[in-house]
Amino acid sequence: YWGNKSLIIVTYLSYILRSSTKNKLLLISFDGFRWDYERHSATPNLDKMTQDGVKAKYVTPPFLTITSPSHFTMLTGRHIENHGVIHNMWFNTTTQEKKQYYSAQFVDSYWDNGSLPIWITAQREGLKAGSLHFPGTAATYEGETVSVRQVESATYDYSNETEWRLNIDKVIGDWFLRQDLDFVSLYFGEPDGAGHKYGPDSPEVWEMIEQVDRTIGYIRDQIEEHGLSERLNVIITSDHGMTKMLREGEVQKIILSKIPGFSFKDIQFQLLDYGPLGMLLPKEGQLEKVYQALKRSHPNLHVYKKEEVPPRLHYSNHPRLLPIILIADAGYAVNGLLPLHYVKGEHGFDNEIMDMKVFFRAVGPDFQKNLLVDPFDLVDVYPLMCHLLGIKPEVHDGHLDKVKDMLVSSTDTRGGNLYFKNIMMIVLTLL
Ligand SMILES: *[C@@H]1O[C@H](CO)[C@@H](O)[C@H](O)[C@H]1NC(C)=O
Ligand SMILES: *[C@@H]1O[C@H](CO)[C@@H](O)[C@H](O)[C@H]1NC(C)=O
Ligand SMILES: *[C@@H]1O[C@H](CO)[C@@H](O)[C@H](O)[C@H]1NC(C)=O
Ligand SMILES: [Zn+2]
Repeated sequence: YWGNKSLIIVTYLSYILRSSTKNKLLLISFDGFRWDYERHSATPNLDKMTQDGVKAKYVTPPFLTITSPSHFTMLTGRHIENHGVIHNMWFNTTTQEKKQYYSAQFVDSYWDNGSLPIWITAQREGLKAGSLHFPGTAATYEGETVSVRQVESATYDYSNETEWRLNIDKVIGDWFLRQDLDFVSLYFGEPDGAGHKYGPDSPEVWEMIEQVDRTIGYIRDQIEEHGLSERLNVIITSDHGMTKMLREGEVQKIILSKIPGFSFKDIQFQLLDYGPLGMLLPKEGQLEKVYQALKRSHPNLHVYKKEEVPPRLHYSNHPRLLPIILIADAGYAVNGLLPLHYVKGEHGFDNEIMDMKVFFRAVGPDFQKNLLVDPFDLVDVYPLMCHLLGIKPEVHDGHLDKVKDMLVSSTDTRGGNLYFKNIMMIVLTLL
């Protein structure tokens, strides 16, 4: 009789233990979603999500405020100078070779520079992870990749709403439900594209925000329909904001070739014409000359020797950063020969500028409802995600304390109550 009973108890206990494990987590990034973008658009689904969950006033992204570096901060909780993905572009100062955003995704040694993305840590702790289009997905880290992944083609259309829905169906129906993954990161390339092309305060961006809003509604419906609402936490955020570029005529542009005393003959390697950040490697012995020529050459250009970059930007201490770093004020770009590349909206600016801040929403069984929280930093999302997944974080630069208040007063207490209830049921069964 007792042997039988204990078998039942053991079976029952193991069931309780399994059912009290952590909830699943979906991290979603909408590229270039500035913190205040919902102002001009009808966003019923974002509003509903706010009622059902948590909204941050805004989140401060890391500097440099561009796509690959900032997304890798989300995945590692590290400042950019610490994870080493310092730019969208990969480059070699000896061979002069440059790889743009897409081709740089496949340079393993660029991404695998000592910081492990959360997928790998989760997998090492026995969880199952997936990633769709998220920057960093294609690379191999210490010999491992995220085990379930989809990398887009070089010509992928990042704004096609039908494609977005197919991707969501895959992540919810296949990856979370059928394959039982614990964590997935999911990337959408808008509203970044619309922000660059039409400027952040354009009707085209307002329309794209409505597309994003419909998509959020679709994601939440799919989660509900597949019965995952009570088991899946969702975090939605972004990598950087967007600001309006100033036009020729309104302002004097920053064009290095026109600066007296500056010559490209003194430069071994340059990274220019990529928005507000420029980097230069002067030829042997020319550093001081180049620096003095550029310093105070334009009122809206900040010229630093690498080690002088303000510490709050955390963009100084990495061997990949070049000896001279140029940072333009909001609305300006750092041009080399000519202002060739004209966009109406741009990012990459100082992360203190409000237009660079991003939005943040979260909903799910572990999040409070209808709660507005104070601003925090994007590096803090990493320890939050590790906490939700119940995995031990790697060394990182975030603070769980800054984001903990958004969680229900303690998942552990709820688990404890459930545990207590089940123990009582066992006792009752025994009686
Ligand atoms: C750049 O190219 C040189 C010469 O081919 C090579 O020795 C060096 O390792 C390369 N650096 C990087 C970062 O790939
Ligand atoms: C990171 O990259 C730098 C420069 O490319 C290299 O010197 C350094 O050894 C790398 N560190 C790790 C841990 O991979
Ligand atoms: C959007 O994607 C769908 C599905 O792949 C495709 O059938 C459709 O032609 C695309 N639309 C546009 C405008 O490219
Ligand atoms: Zn962009």
